[in-house]
Amino acid sequence: MDYRIALNFEDGATRFIDCKPAESVLDAAYRHKINLPMDCSDGVCGTCKCRCEEGEYDLGDDYVEDALSKDEAAERMVLTCQMRPSSDCVLAVPVPSSACKVKPAEHAGTVSLVEGISNSTFLLGVTLDDVSALHFLPGQYVSLNVPGTSQSRAYSFSTAPGSKEARFLIRNVPGGLMSGWLSREAAIGQRMSFVGPNGSFFLRPVERPILMLAGGTGLAPLLSMLEVLADRGCTQPIHLIYGVTTDGDLVETARIESLAERLPTFSWAGCVAEEASNHPLKGYVTQHLSDAHLNGGDSDIYLCGPPPMVEAVRIFLRDKGVTPAHFHYEKFTPSETVVA
Ligand code: FES
Repeated sequence: MDYRIALNFEDGATRFIDCKPAESVLDAAYRHKINLPMDCSDGVCGTCKCRCEEGEYDLGDDYVEDALSKDEAAERMVLTCQMRPSSDCVLAVPVPSSACKVKPAEHAGTVSLVEGISNSTFLLGVTLDDVSALHFLPGQYVSLNVPGTSQSRAYSFSTAPGSKEARFLIRNVPGGLMSGWLSREAAIGQRMSFVGPNGSFFLRPVERPILMLAGGTGLAPLLSMLEVLADRGCTQPIHLIYGVTTDGDLVETARIESLAERLPTFSWAGCVAEEASNHPLKGYVTQHLSDAHLNGGDSDIYLCGPPPMVEAVRIFLRDKGVTPAHFHYEKFTPSETVVA
């Protein structure tokens, strides 16, 4: 059985390759025309060193300690010329994709859903031409080409990998290119294309309680992660705090409720920042973060929202003196472009 290896490059581009049993990741990558960094191919130089973020593997026993020390091996560093996967794996490759001659992967589909689900949010569904050709890690994004233009905008999937219909939550930005197309021209049956996947904001192995923080359409990648967790099952507690500006901005609440039914360890709360809100929870996400959610730092935090929200959460954690085990975040800007 082949294993699927995700190569997540320094610039966020991700490519998936199949690796045969007993094949090194370096050889598998070359078979896929991806030139991972290498020099000796013999476990001597250390040029091919990467970090395995997820998955099981054999390090090999034919390398020298100068190339990979015991401490590095304990931290899941690997030499791709020696490593033999024994499960699907995710590798962080410490160079840009362009340095490995990786071409952007293009995908296409047909618009199957376009709906303004609030004043501030569109829901876009694209039925994929070839779902088997699109692999991504839950939480990642793609660059959607805006039909009729030469420009693209970046959006995270809100659906799980493997879904025939890819869905996106798109913020309605006044004067925005994608927003304008969605509000005036988009129609069922139109063709769309996109490039990706990209991004280092994706679900890692679940080893402790998870705290998810979403601001506005930053909910999308967290929904994708929750779909995967609901399918896989998860015994660790997962709590989502979903913050928006006005009452009308809260979207996909029925979907979140249905995820809570499928995932017994999952709980969530929505909060609304606007003073005039009638919502029972008012204020910013940080105002509804309890010590129990932080679990004394023994938690993995996933945060997706606008830059001020990311900064506010950082300051909140610092002032609390809490350092989470892992703090994964992604910022998006008003120009609809994912920047981190
Ligand atoms: Fe030299 Fe792998 S290429 S150690």
